[in-house]
Amino acid sequence: MSKRNIVTLPGDGIGRTVLEEALRVLDAAGFEAEYKEGDIGWESWCREGNPLPQRTIDLVERYKIALFGAITSKPKDAAFEELAPELKDKGLVYASPIVTLRQHFGLDICLRPCKSYPGNPLNFIRRGPSGGIAEPEVDVAIFRQNTEGLYGGVEWSDPPQQVYDALMTHPRFRRNFAWCPKEELSVSTRIFTRKMTRRILQAAFEHAVKYGYRSVTLCEKPNVIRETSGMMYKMAQEMQKNEYPGIELWNTNIDAQMMWLTKNPEDYGVIVAGNMFGDIVSDAFAGLIGGLGFACSAQYNPDTGVAVFEPTHGSAPKYAGYPVSIVNPIAMIESACMMLEYLKENEKASRIRKAVAAVIARGEVRTYDMLRLTGSPDVLTKGAASTREMTDAIINALQQ
Ligand code: NAI
Ligand code: MG
Repeated sequence: MSKRNIVTLPGDGIGRTVLEEALRVLDAAGFEAEYKEGDIGWESWCREGNPLPQRTIDLVERYKIALFGAITSKPKDAAFEELAPELKDKGLVYASPIVTLRQHFGLDICLRPCKSYPGNPLNFIRRGPSGGIAEPEVDVAIFRQNTEGLYGGVEWSDPPQQVYDALMTHPRFRRNFAWCPKEELSVSTRIFTRKMTRRILQAAFEHAVKYGYRSVTLCEKPNVIRETSGMMYKMAQEMQKNEYPGIELWNTNIDAQMMWLTKNPEDYGVIVAGNMFGDIVSDAFAGLIGGLGFACSAQYNPDTGVAVFEPTHGSAPKYAGYPVSIVNPIAMIESACMMLEYLKENEKASRIRKAVAAVIARGEVRTYDMLRLTGSPDVLTKGAASTREMTDAIINALQQ
C-alpha cells in the first residue's frame, strides 16, 4: 500500500515537542506515512501577519488528515506589539488559527474521550461508603459541537443600529436592557442550527452503539436556555425514540453536572453538548483522569472527511525553552491514536494504547505532572522522567 500523507501542524511551544514524540511512536508502531509540515501559530503571525497562512489551509485541503500540536495566542496589544515592523500599519487583526481552522473546514464534530488508566496516580479518588478510598473507573466520550453556539463569533460591543433595533423588538430585551445606553452593551450570540445539532447528536448516538455505551447524556440547560438548549434536547428525545431506542437518553444541566462529576463519574458514558458547555464538561472530566497531560481530541467534518487531531492543552510557553523538555507527551500520543482509529488502523492504535497503559501501570516512568511536582527544570533530579524518556518507555513497551 502506498504511504499515507499526513499534515503535521506543530505550532508553538510544547506543541512542537510533543508532536515530534508522537511521530516517533507512530513510527515504532509501524505506521507508514509521508508527513507534510504546515506553518501555524504565533511565529507565522509575527513574521507574516497571518497565524494560518493560505499554504497551510491548502495542505489540509489536499491531504485532509492533520496532527496538530498547540499554538500560542496572546491578547490584542501583544499581538500588535510582536508583529514584524513592516506589517504594523496594515490593520491586521489576530484571530486564533485553531478556531479559524474549525470554521474554515467545518470541523463540527469534536470528540474528547476521557478514560482513566489503572495505576495513574492522578486518577480521581473519593471516599467510599465505609470510609475507604474508592477509585471509580472513568470512561466517558464527550461530543462537543465545535463550530456554533457561543464560539460562533457573532458578537458586538456597541452593536450597529440595525442589530440594536432588532433586539428592541424582543419584549425581554426591552424589559431587561432598554435602560442601558447602546454604546455600553456587549452582545455575544448563541446560535444553534438544526442541521449541525442533528449531526453532533447523531455522532454521539452512533458512538454509543459502536462502542457499547449504555447511555447518551445531553449536558445543556434546556429549562433556562429554552431556544438553543431546548431545541437540542427535543431533537435528542426524538432521535432516541425513533432511531436509537436501545440507548438511554439522560439529560443533565451543565451546572448540576459539574456538581455530580465527582459523585458518580463512572455512571456516564457518552456525553453530548453545545460548544461552550462541551468545552467545560470535557475539561472537567479530563481533570478526573489526569488533566492536560492526558486529554486528547479529534475534530472532523463527516461530509468531507477532513480531520484534525490534537491534545487539549496549549503551548505551555513557560516550559517550551527548557534544555530538556519535561512535559507529558501522552495527550498528543493519544491524539495520534485517535487519528489511527479514524484511518481504520485500529490494531496499531490499540497496541500503542496498551503500551501507554503498561508504562502507567508499572509506574517506573512518570513525568513531573504524574508526580504532582511543580514544573521546573530540576524535576528531572527529583525522579521525573523527561518528555523523551516517557516516549522511549512507551516505545519500549510497544516493542515487547
Ligand atoms: P496550557 O495548556 O498551555 O498550559 C497550562 C498548564 O498546564 C501548563 O503551565 C502546565 O502546567 C500544564 N500542561 C499543559 N500541557 C501539559 C503537558 N503536556 N504535560 C504536563 N503539563 C502540561 O494553557 P495556558 O497556559 O493557559 O496557555 C498557554 C498558551 O497556549 C496560550 O497562548 C494559549 O492561548 C494557548 N492555548 C492553545 C491551545 C491550543 O493550541 N489548542 C489550547 C489552550 C491554550
Ligand atoms: Mg478548553
